[in-house]
Amino acid sequence: MTPAASVLLVDDDAAFRGVMAGELRRLHLEVATAASGKEALGHLVEHAPQIVLLDLRLPDMSGLDVLKRIRETSPASEVIMLTGHGSIDTAIESIRMGAFDYVAKPCPLDELEIRIQRALERQMLQRRASLLERGLTPPDPRGWFVGESPEFQGLLRLVERVAPSDATVLVTGETGSGKEMVARLIHARSTRSERPFVVVECAALQEELLQSELFGHERGAFTGADRAKPGLFEVAHGGTIFLDEIGEVSQATQVKLLRVLDTSTFRHVGGTSEIRVDVRVLAATNRDLEAMVRQGLFREDLYYRLSTITVALPALRDRRPDIDLLAAHFVTVLNARFGSRKHLGAGALERLRRHDWPGNVRELLHVIERAMVVCEGEEIRPEHLPAALGAAPAHEAASPDEGGALPTLAELERTHIQRVLRAVDGHRGQAARLLGISERNLYRKLRDYELES
Ligand SMILES: Nc1ncnc2c1ncn2[C@@H]1O[C@H](COP(=O)(O)OP(=O)(O)OP(=O)(O)O)[C@@H](O)[C@H]1O
Ligand SMILES: [Mg+2]
Repeated sequence: MTPAASVLLVDDDAAFRGVMAGELRRLHLEVATAASGKEALGHLVEHAPQIVLLDLRLPDMSGLDVLKRIRETSPASEVIMLTGHGSIDTAIESIRMGAFDYVAKPCPLDELEIRIQRALERQMLQRRASLLERGLTPPDPRGWFVGESPEFQGLLRLVERVAPSDATVLVTGETGSGKEMVARLIHARSTRSERPFVVVECAALQEELLQSELFGHERGAFTGADRAKPGLFEVAHGGTIFLDEIGEVSQATQVKLLRVLDTSTFRHVGGTSEIRVDVRVLAATNRDLEAMVRQGLFREDLYYRLSTITVALPALRDRRPDIDLLAAHFVTVLNARFGSRKHLGAGALERLRRHDWPGNVRELLHVIERAMVVCEGEEIRPEHLPAALGAAPAHEAASPDEGGALPTLAELERTHIQRVLRAVDGHRGQAARLLGISERNLYRKLRDYELES
């Protein structure tokens, strides 16, 4: 048992208190006692014990009332109820109110020991979960998830529709397009929102480490594993696990993931017993998983299992109306943080609108952040933006003193059309929209410039 875990034993029977406290100390627990509800609550405020053993019947208040107060004032403490005979209904009610477990009196010590052990384990998992959940995201990210383009609104509707179900969702999109935000939003809008949201950066860890993070390991499972560790799937129990950059995981890990998805069970690395968890899986990638399946790099069965529902985030360049809104949103947020009153001038905004945003929303955020720092007055102007941003790319505007001949207007137009087509993977409708011309006009130009494929 964890050394010196702290326990508060609350019971009005002095003899029981004395015997039980002695037994618990023999288990190397640090034990304090209280004879009434009032005494217990006083102790809690000062000591916040890890475990409270709470008698259901107390002289001054009911055990359930004490439980309620504990949940409010000392939420990290786990409560195990001590119940008499015939009070099963109340015991169950106590679980509903947030007790961890209950034991019928007179409780056999070995049974109590197991419950305490389990309660301590849960506590450890929860502490880890709250460390893992990144602090900054507001509980409901919806208000921070900005966009008004039809593409974005469609995306939001899809997210709202899939969030309440327990379905696995694959979020795809280019880097910086908002995949993690979508995952957080799905979690926040699900029935699991009060439970952990655990992010796993699959690309950041090499195979062995990733497996031990995901599935935990037994003591001695590999060199350096000097103690057993629960996996992130256990940490996420009852909540959501977000497998970021799923396209990067090895074939061996893919097999194990498929098994958890299919059976909700897994084993610790080096372990033999099956662990069952209730976890919703969300995954994200900026790679073309379907192509990876064709190339034999990603398991087809796992791909189908993950992509039951796919939420595809459009690139920022494909939802240009959102640029204005996002830019203004970031300026507002940063003004609040810096205590400033800056705004985007028309010239700067024009440049933002022209840029292609290969780094999507994150790139836009960084550009605004930088501009707010560089800009000393209140108006953000083009000179506060990176020089290349939204300006004609260098290769199109070869300068005479570098020896290159000046391109003609037609040559510029031809190169630009090629560039836009590349950016939208050859989608002509999108290209026409980006170029601000009709599709018919685009077809004519493609023919004239001999760009038809
Ligand atoms: N629609 C949006 N409204 C407001 N902020 C957004 C929006 N989309 C993305 N962001 C912000 O842009 C940044 C990048 O978003 P996020 O991390 O979700 O992208 P990602 O697709 O997961 O990126 P990567 O592929 O690099 O992991 C974050 O700071 C996020 O808060
Ligand atoms: Mg991400």
